[in-house]
Amino acid sequence: MADVDGLKIAKDYKVDVPFANQGDFHVKGAGSLDWGMKKHLSNIFDPVSGNTVMFAFDHGYFMGSTAGLERLDVLLPQLIPYVDVLMGTRGAIRTCVPADCRKGIALRTTSGSSMLNDDLSHEVLAVDIEDVIRMNADCMAIQTFIGADGQLSSLDNLSKAVNAGMRYSVPVMGVVAVGKQMERTGRFFKLATRILAELGANIIKTYNCEDFEEVVAACPVPIVVAGGKKLPEKEALELAYEVISKGARGVDMGRNIFQSQNPAVMAQAVNMVVHKGATAEEAYEFFQDNK
Ligand code: 5RP
Repeated sequence: MADVDGLKIAKDYKVDVPFANQGDFHVKGAGSLDWGMKKHLSNIFDPVSGNTVMFAFDHGYFMGSTAGLERLDVLLPQLIPYVDVLMGTRGAIRTCVPADCRKGIALRTTSGSSMLNDDLSHEVLAVDIEDVIRMNADCMAIQTFIGADGQLSSLDNLSKAVNAGMRYSVPVMGVVAVGKQMERTGRFFKLATRILAELGANIIKTYNCEDFEEVVAACPVPIVVAGGKKLPEKEALELAYEVISKGARGVDMGRNIFQSQNPAVMAQAVNMVVHKGATAEEAYEFFQDNK
């Protein structure tokens, strides 16, 4: 391992230079992957816009019943038409997503803590690759905790998922967790996203931050941005617009959709920003007119 003392600070991100190894496939960093991987990634990233709207409803894996997600069976059918990917646990997906739903599936594949723990950074790989395949999941979502107590085991989970995913052509989405004690700086997100991509993740879920364009430029796979805590709808649409303008290939929003005054209209407004080039103002006007 390199001696980290006296390391030069990385700064030459060439944010205006497009990814140079794109080939003719629309997903960043996936040009050399096989047909099965590309098929799954195409179920996630729209081949026309190149982007994705993921709806995250996996909160129950450590929070139990969450405000807005009390009745997944009622909520999901209202949102499915307006999102590209459903991100949930196998229990929620098997019980509450109709099997004829043709949207992508991001399967939450790690678990192990609950809101009752102070340290949420200890998870295990909880879903066998056989079950990932049985569910026809388009990616395995793996929580990672860079800089936290659970870093080693979470990167072990990620590496095992990448190894299994490579055997059976199932992509991995590395999820960058932030915790009470963890930084939310550009420096942290550059470190975390790049580590996950170098370990083989095909998609990275992370947060907006200062120098976000540099985080995107330095990451050789697509970044989708987490919604995070509930914001007023206008601010959530501004967040979506800002990160898409800075190179994110989508958003993975939970609370900012399902805790909205009107989740289905909010999902449509987010979709307008992510896929149709709408500004935050245009999308908010749509929300106001239809909520
Ligand atoms: C946690 C996750 C969750 O899916 C995500 O945070 C939930 O979405 P939101 O924060 O937008 O409610 O990946 O790391």
